[in-house]
Parts: sequence; structure tokens; C-alpha cells
Amino acid sequence: MRFSDGFLSEIRDRVPISAVVGLRVTWDRKKTNAPRGDFWACCPFHGEKSPSFHCEDRKGRYHCFGCGVSGDHFRFLTDLDGMTFPEAVERIAEMAGVPMPARDAHEERREKERASLTDVMELATKFFEDRLQSADGARARAYLRDRGLTPATQQTFRLGFAPDSRNALKEFLASKGIEKVQMEACGLTVFEDVPVSYDRFRDRIMFPIPDSRGRIIAFGGRAMSAEVSAKYLNSPETELFHKGNVLYNFARARKALQKGGAVIAVEGYMDVIALAQAGFDNAVAPLGTALTENQLELLWRMSGEPVLCFDGDKAGLKAAYRAADMVLPLVAPGHTARFALLPEGKDPDDLVKGEGPEAFRTVLTAARPLSELVWMRETSGGVFDTPERRAELEKTLRELTGRIKDESVRYHYQQEMRERVLSFFGNQRGRQQGQGERGKGSFGKGGERGQWNKGGAGAAAGRFAVSESLARSAMVKRAGGIMPLREAALVVALVNHPALIDENFDHVEKLDLSHGELRQLHTVLIDAMAHGEANTREAVVAAIERASCAEMWERAVALARRTRQWTALEDAAIEDARDAFAQALHLHRSARTLHKELKQAEAALATDPTDENYRHLVEIQAQFHDVQATEALIEGFGVSSGRGGRN
Ligand code: UTP
Ligand code: MN
Repeated sequence: MRFSDGFLSEIRDRVPISAVVGLRVTWDRKKTNAPRGDFWACCPFHGEKSPSFHCEDRKGRYHCFGCGVSGDHFRFLTDLDGMTFPEAVERIAEMAGVPMPARDAHEERREKERASLTDVMELATKFFEDRLQSADGARARAYLRDRGLTPATQQTFRLGFAPDSRNALKEFLASKGIEKVQMEACGLTVFEDVPVSYDRFRDRIMFPIPDSRGRIIAFGGRAMSAEVSAKYLNSPETELFHKGNVLYNFARARKALQKGGAVIAVEGYMDVIALAQAGFDNAVAPLGTALTENQLELLWRMSGEPVLCFDGDKAGLKAAYRAADMVLPLVAPGHTARFALLPEGKDPDDLVKGEGPEAFRTVLTAARPLSELVWMRETSGGVFDTPERRAELEKTLRELTGRIKDESVRYHYQQEMRERVLSFFGNQRGRQQGQGERGKGSFGKGGERGQWNKGGAGAAAGRFAVSESLARSAMVKRAGGIMPLREAALVVALVNHPALIDENFDHVEKLDLSHGELRQLHTVLIDAMAHGEANTREAVVAAIERASCAEMWERAVALARRTRQWTALEDAAIEDARDAFAQALHLHRSARTLHKELKQAEAALATDPTDENYRHLVEIQAQFHDVQATEALIEGFGVSSGRGGRN
């Protein structure tokens, strides 16, 4: 039986070749780079002692530099296992979870039809390209120019223009001998429930959407005026186009990624194109819907850690969280995602145009791992001041990490979350247990994490042991639990850059901190200042040590480090530290004001339980929660508004 090229490439695309080959060889741990899809082993086709057999997921091929064999998924099975070709196809289809095509002439006919449909799409693409260069394309050309797209970029992406006519494309295609049914099957005409079919795309900029081999399978059409109700009109689902299985710019990005790097997923066509023009050829976009599992698989075929970009506003955050929920169960060794948050109100297109490629690079650099996003969502804005609330947090985290299908990744996630819970509640280093215990708990590297893990309450694998430890630690209650990120960053910046104390003395003196340990450090700072001992970082640190506050100081630094608040750390340039400090101080003061209003509203309701007071409280609570949640995350991403602009 003959298999269609479409079917063969679909199943090949879905199964990494390493998964096929990996069943028969043992990968060489040193040479292999699994996240990049780069595998080495001793060749199974000829005996050898050092690995010269190379297998690359991105290309879907293997090659032995020793004996010269090479091939793809099917070839591996036919040559090594002696399967027939159809048997090999059946095996790969099974691994891909794709049913085998029906064994009949019908399928072959459909394949022919599909081929002719791509021909029709190609004709339409050329038609739109021509119209863009024609007289009636003048406005469209001006529009694209105003949006900063060079003619070269327009050509690369084959942008076009659909004239404002109900039958221009129809007539053009008819003149080329294309049947009405083919136009309909391509989604190029609207034909249901109308007496006469007509062109679907009218007066729009056309973005052709290629498949993984560069053949056009759909279009996105953008209206040029804001009055038109649908900004983008996309092709409907057709025989050629299933939007949940396609990424815009997949083929170009995959090619660009052969040089290395991570694939970037953004939201829109314009973002992909503007990024390409700015030198980022490795960006792709879903087609107007949230990322699907299939699209994630496609991303993973390109790189193990795609960076998913979202708007820095509340809707963007929500979308990021939704994507995190989709990705989490599917993570596997070497397969995960990072999340980048853009400055509020900007998409990648705005950013590279307004502030240059560097600004976008900064956003990428600040991308956070999935585990961190999950953690942030569960903790930001939350209050964990009772054992019940902390237990609930643990329960939620356990439930979330329990969704991870891969056993080993699940184990490591649970471990990481357990460690985060422990350090989050500020209960490290066995303060209650004394010196002996402290030594035992150490991993020997001085990191604030591992220490607890072993020294604490028996930290059985997979179980959260925090509650018991917390109960034993009176210190935690005094400290007030969680060390808030921003407060820690403020204090850390002040110690590392004492000039800031001087420059902001009025504010610094009155700094209103919610966390006990940070308040203690703050007192030490103000004292040191008063005694003229805050001239250098070393002097301030010495004062902290004299006040027996070294451990809480280290905790604050560790937190700043872990949350990548680089500008607060010792190495930061004073200008950067100053900018970030001013901004954090401002945010802190507004949050504290809101917090006070919240307390007042609570008091008002307690003394005067009216509906109005109740509504007022609920409203303030909502505001407070929003500010906390959004800020915690945006801060965590290191892209708080206003800072991106520096080049
Ligand atoms: P955006 O609204 O972010 O558009 O939608 P954009 O890509 O930045 O385009 P410009 O800059 O406004 O020209 C993101 C994506 O959502 C889909 C499209 O795929 C778009 O690229 N979308 C958007 C639609 O399908 N329909 C719409 O009406 C709007
Ligand atoms: Mn845009």
C-alpha cells in the first residue's frame, strides 16, 4: 500500500527519532545533549567502543560517522529490525498515537485532492502578492510601511492584499481552471447559506500560513481600519488546515534553530514578523487561540525549553497561568517551558519597534521556569498566617505536582515545592535544633535550600513535612512567616548599596515593613547610620553580624538571588540599584497604603456591619489582592514597567 507523504511526515513529526532509536541503544551520557535533541551512542549497526552514532531530533535523522549508515525513523526499523516498510510505518503511527489510514483507493484520491488544494492555495497566495504590488494595493502598502515592515520582510513572509471585491479571487482562480468546490474546500469563498458564493477575504492584508514544509495551507487576513468588526479573519478548518496543529512560522523557525537557541512562542502574526525583522527568526505563534497540546509537541520538536511570551497585564498573566496548567502534566526530562512576561501593554512587535531588539532580549533573559510560575501563582498575594492556610498551600501544591505524568520529573517537582515551602516560611538551618543538627543538614554548599531538606523533620521523599517543622519553630511566629519579595529586595539593596540609605533617608527611616526579620534588619541599618557605621557595605554587614542578625540577612539575600532581583545584589551598578530601588520603594509605599485602607475597612465593618461597609471591604480586598498578585509576578519577572527602556 502507498502511504501519503502527508501521513508519513505527520507521524514522523510527532515522534522524536531519539524515542525510536533509544529503544535499541544506550545514549552516551557525556556527548548527548537531550534538551537540544542531540543524541550519541555506540552504533547498533556496527560494533564499536566509542560513540560515533549520532541522532538528531530536530532533523529526524540518524547518522553513523563510523560506518556511514543514515536514515529516518522508518529506515532505522527496516534496517536494524528487519521490518517491512508498512510494518515500520505501523509502529511509528502507533507511537505517534495516530490511526493508520484506511487501506483503500479512497485515501489515495483524497491525497491527490489535498495536493491539488495546496496548488490552489499557492495560486491564491500569488494572487494576493500581486495585488499588493498593484494600484489597488497602494493603501495596503502604505499600511505595512507605517507598521515598519520592510519590503524584504514582506516578501519573506509572502504578505499580500485581498482587494475589496466579492469575486476578484474567485474569477482569477476560475480563469486558471479551478473548480468552485476546490475554492470552497480551501476556505477561500463563503458558500454556506448564501445564494452565490463570494470571496471570504476582502480588503485585508493577507498573511499566508505555511505548513511544516512551507506549503501554504491557510490565511490570516487583517483589516486595515479599526472600524471593521473582526481585526483578523482566519481561514476556516479545512482538509489542509487544522489550526490547533499548526504554528505560524514553524518551518522558518525550525531552520533558524538548527544553529541552536530556544524557540519563542508569541501571540500574533505581527509579533512573529516584527521579531524576524529584528533578528529573532526563531519565533512562532499559535493561530488566535491559546496554545494547544499539539502545538506544544511541535515546540518540543524544535527545542526542549521553549519560551512562552505573554503580555505583562492581568489578562496576559491569566493566559500564562492557563498555559502553565496545560504544560505541567506533560513535562518530561528535557521537556519543559519558560515563561516571559512583557512590559505591560506591549506586545513583542511594539517592544522591538519602540525600544529595539535588546529590550526583547532582556525580556527573554528574565523568563522564569515553569516550576517558578506554578509557585508564584499559588503564593503571590496569599496570606499564610495560620497552620490551616499553610496546610492548604501544601495540599494545592501536592495536587498540582501530582498531575505531572513523568514519574521522575514529578518527584523532583514535589521535592522543589517542598523546599520552597520550607524556605518560604523562613525556617531554615535548624535554629531550634542547635549546632549539631545544623551541620548534619548541610549539603556542604552553603545554599539555603538543601540544608533544611535533610536536617528538618525527616523530609520523607514526596511528602511535605513543613507543618511539623513550623510547629517546632517559635522563631517563625515571631518572624511573621513569609518574607515578602519586595521588602527583602529593599532591605538587601540598602545594605549592599548604603549610599541609598543616605540618599533616601527620610523614606528609609520611615520604611514600613511587614516582616519581623526584615524589621530587625531595618533597625540595625538605622542604628548603623546614626552611629556613622553605614559608610560602606562591609561596615553595615559587620553591624548586622554584631546584632546577631547574620542569618536573617543571608535569608534575605538568598531570596533576592533566587527571585533574580539582581539590582539589589552586591554586584549591581549603583545606577541600576538606584533605579530599581526607587521603583520598588514607590510600589511598596502604595501597597502599604492600600494595606492600611484594608485594615480600616475591616475595622469599619466590625464596628458597623452594614451592607455598604461590607461592599467597601470586598472592593478594597480585591484591589489589594490584584496589586499583590500582579506586582509579585511582574517583579519576579524582572520586567516591571519603566525599566525595559534602557539600552
Ligand atoms: P493581537 O490582537 O495581539 O494582534 O492578536 P497582533 O498580532 O498583535 O496584530 P496587530 O499588531 O494588532 O496587527 C494576536 C493574534 O490573535 C489572532 C491572530 O492570530 C493574531 O495574530 N486574532 C486576533 C484573531 O484570530 N482574530 C482577531 O480578531 C484578533
Ligand atoms: Mn500587535
